Amino acid sequence: MIFDYSALRNLLFKLPPETAHSLAELCLRGAAQTPFLLAAIAKRLASRDPSLKQTLCGLTFNNPIGIAAGFDKNATMIKPLAALGFGFVEVGTLTPKPQLGAAKPRLWRHIEQKSLQNAMGFNNDGLEAAIRRVEKIAPFVIPIGVNLGKNKTTLNKEAIDDYRVGVARAEATADYLVFNLSSPNTPDLRDLQNESFVRELFVMARSITQKPIFLKIAPDLPVGDAIKVSAGAIESGASGIIAANTTNDYSRIEGSDKNGGGLSGAVLTDKSREFFKPIAKELFGKTTLIASGGIMSVGEAWARIKAGASLAQIYTGLIYEGAGFVKTINDGVSAAMKSEGFNSIGEAIGSDIR
Ligand SMILES: Cc1cc2nc3c(=O)[nH]c(=O)nc-3n(C[C@H](O)[C@H](O)[C@H](O)COP(=O)(O)O)c2cc1C
Repeated sequence: MIFDYSALRNLLFKLPPETAHSLAELCLRGAAQTPFLLAAIAKRLASRDPSLKQTLCGLTFNNPIGIAAGFDKNATMIKPLAALGFGFVEVGTLTPKPQLGAAKPRLWRHIEQKSLQNAMGFNNDGLEAAIRRVEKIAPFVIPIGVNLGKNKTTLNKEAIDDYRVGVARAEATADYLVFNLSSPNTPDLRDLQNESFVRELFVMARSITQKPIFLKIAPDLPVGDAIKVSAGAIESGASGIIAANTTNDYSRIEGSDKNGGGLSGAVLTDKSREFFKPIAKELFGKTTLIASGGIMSVGEAWARIKAGASLAQIYTGLIYEGAGFVKTINDGVSAAMKSEGFNSIGEAIGSDIR
């Protein structure tokens, strides 16, 4: 760790969650304005283990840990996030038109459970503004993913048009794209997680671009449906699956149903892992799998990698563990690889199910 995060966390946690996020954004953007500071942070936090490096979908990942969508919705923090040691950054979710998102408050902490609850509703500056920011730094030293959604006012029967606009605008700049059909905070969005829409979506996308495109699914889907939808996506041109988004299983935290939205962090860990495993059993070797959801420790990241995840994304862990968390996970995964006799990350991925 660069310093003891727990004291800073105590201060940040005195602020409303969105204010703390804006403050963190301000600090990260400030650091990006000071190249020597950014370089010093990167030097301290970069993972230097070459055995963590891999090429997937034609992209080079120096390490398997990425920042999940929603942290950098508007592509304002890509450089400082890279300096924190992330192997890739996913920006968004972006919608064709800018939108304010849900009324505040819309983000809550469950501190005892090391969890967050968000009902943000795709607040974002819009596709155009964010892609312009990405264009300024692309091609970048680590892969940049662009996560795409639909505007709240777009009806589901017209949703494909929003995703078409997203692909057409982002594909030349993004290293990979993601179709997010799994946010619980855009009314009826999750209904689009059906095989026929997903097939139509990827056929449309493949008529526009050959860039890697992932589908991000919800952990609340019955697992059989998740496998069917994922397999349909892959047959229609998807490069992989991100499993999974937040959960709206409010039984996990008493009283959480009153705010709605999605739960993330430790309360999601076992649900997300147990959702991931059968999907990986079915699809490992046929596609690229990215794990997301409740990865709050080295052990959990390592478990998902051995269960078949080529990459893993974190969000809530960063809030609770601080900036050093990416390095902690990368160093921990390196150590676990060595102690279990793997020479490269590629050997470890899916080793539990091969
Ligand atoms: C405040 C907040 C906002 C989020 N916004 C998005 C989003 O815009 N798009 C998306 O695909 N996922 C979004 N997510 C979900 C995360 O990308 C991630 O899949 C989820 O939080 C589970 O990972 P975690 O337990 O490590 O946080 C958001 C999560 C949080 C906590």
